[in-house]
Amino acid sequence: MNTKQLKGHIGQIVTLKGWVANRRESKTVVFINLRDGQGMCQCILGLEGLGEGLFQTAKTLGQESSISVTGKVVEDTRQFGGFELNATDLKVYQNAKDYPISNKEHGIEFLIDHRHLWIRSRRQWAIMRVRNCITYAIHNFFQGQDFVQMDAPIFTGNAAEGTTDLFETDYYGKPAYLTQSGQLYGEAMALAMGKIYTFGPTFRAEKSKTRRHLSEFWMIEPEMAFCDIFENMDTIESFLRSVVQEVLEKCPDELKILNRDTSNLETVAKKFPRLSYDEAVEILKGNQDVDGKNTLLTIEEDIKENAVRIIEIEEDIAQREAAIAAGGMKKGAINFNQNKIDTLKQELKQIEEDQRNMPQWLESARNFEYGNDFGGSDETVLTRLFDCPIMVYDWPHEIKAFYMKRNPDDQRFARGVDVLAPEGYGEIVGGGERETSEEWLVEKINEHKLPMDVFQWYLDLRRYGSVPHSGFGLGLERLVAWICKLDHVRETIPFPRYYGRLEP
Ligand code: 4AD
Ligand code: MG
Repeated sequence: MNTKQLKGHIGQIVTLKGWVANRRESKTVVFINLRDGQGMCQCILGLEGLGEGLFQTAKTLGQESSISVTGKVVEDTRQFGGFELNATDLKVYQNAKDYPISNKEHGIEFLIDHRHLWIRSRRQWAIMRVRNCITYAIHNFFQGQDFVQMDAPIFTGNAAEGTTDLFETDYYGKPAYLTQSGQLYGEAMALAMGKIYTFGPTFRAEKSKTRRHLSEFWMIEPEMAFCDIFENMDTIESFLRSVVQEVLEKCPDELKILNRDTSNLETVAKKFPRLSYDEAVEILKGNQDVDGKNTLLTIEEDIKENAVRIIEIEEDIAQREAAIAAGGMKKGAINFNQNKIDTLKQELKQIEEDQRNMPQWLESARNFEYGNDFGGSDETVLTRLFDCPIMVYDWPHEIKAFYMKRNPDDQRFARGVDVLAPEGYGEIVGGGERETSEEWLVEKINEHKLPMDVFQWYLDLRRYGSVPHSGFGLGLERLVAWICKLDHVRETIPFPRYYGRLEP
């Protein structure tokens, strides 16, 4: 029996096994929030139901003690999960003392150092569940459309995405690299299977600490034979829509725990705007409006509104703190206000950080030099007036990978496409159509100073049965971060790896 199955057992005696998430007590009753991995249930351990001995034991239980509770299931819609357990028996597996993570606020470094325990917390629990749901939805989408899942190698002899961020290892005395992308192998497999997708770990030695970069992340890379960039964009769009909608359908409780405003996800039902790189630059620089509104002016308005909001929050916090300090408040009300203060402080921190950054974003957008790649802040500015993901295609070929197909009608551009998520999340997908001309590829491999010998197998794909083909790569952690609306990708993966972080 678990907390998810209580619905069918109202009035019956059941046993739940789990951990003490929270305990409070009065003279004759101990209330325990039991978490069992599936969900939560409040257990009422009364002197009357348990008897003196077990009741005294219940009073000693520390946070995260492992227990089983037997009792009668009672419906209580006020409780998370909707049920309570009126205990008649208690078994203690281990009485845990001094659990390091309490309900009060901890610094992020402390939490990451305790990641092995932090994953038990409610928010982290919700994020991991959403991640699991996304994984399932991804397989669902591709399997439903007859894609074959393939596993690309992790040790590789060549770079796929530029040589600057490769992790080098020793492979029987020869250098090898941890894969940055399974794409090149995906292309080979697509010519064998028609349509494939990879779902595996990828590695990039990103020596910068941003909220979007991990050193080890999971990428989903479909590759399709007989597919051009526009059909590719159609697939990306229906893929993302289907995954987000499946999460909305299956994870309403988790999204609620995360305080996620789901109206900002429901917009995936809309057609994703498609902009050429040239149009995107014009919008970014404020030279072209979006639905009659100017991106840069809107952000200037945001800065003014934030200033007002900061004062509002500070006043709200001060009032609540004063009310608590004045005394005479009931314990429940103090807890309520304290929680509210914590949330407000969180919001304040975020807005203050934005306030510090936004003038720089504007500056960098105004001075953006045509021909460059967009930086993180450029993506945030560019997407400000869009409420669903946008696709930017036809990029200056110089800034894209060697394998990108050149636009046959305008050779300044490569047929790449990036998907930028709204709400400041930026690039979640990168992809495009692949070059089919062996001659052009050889030229690009030389231009990028890549070793020609290790690409001979890749050139074979152009020598034998070459066809137009396209694909893309979705960064799983970036998608989780957006769907859950998290500040940083480090919370999207059970044990994050990023610059300076290898433990736990
Ligand atoms: O844009 P990228 O570099 O594209 C490729 O690797 C192509 N080979 C994909 C393809 O066409 N098959 O990476 C794809 C996605 C990015 O859009 C981003 O979501 C994610 O991978 N990504 C990262 N996520 C977390 N940390 C990092 N350091 C990431 N680098 C890329
Ligand atoms: Mg990219």
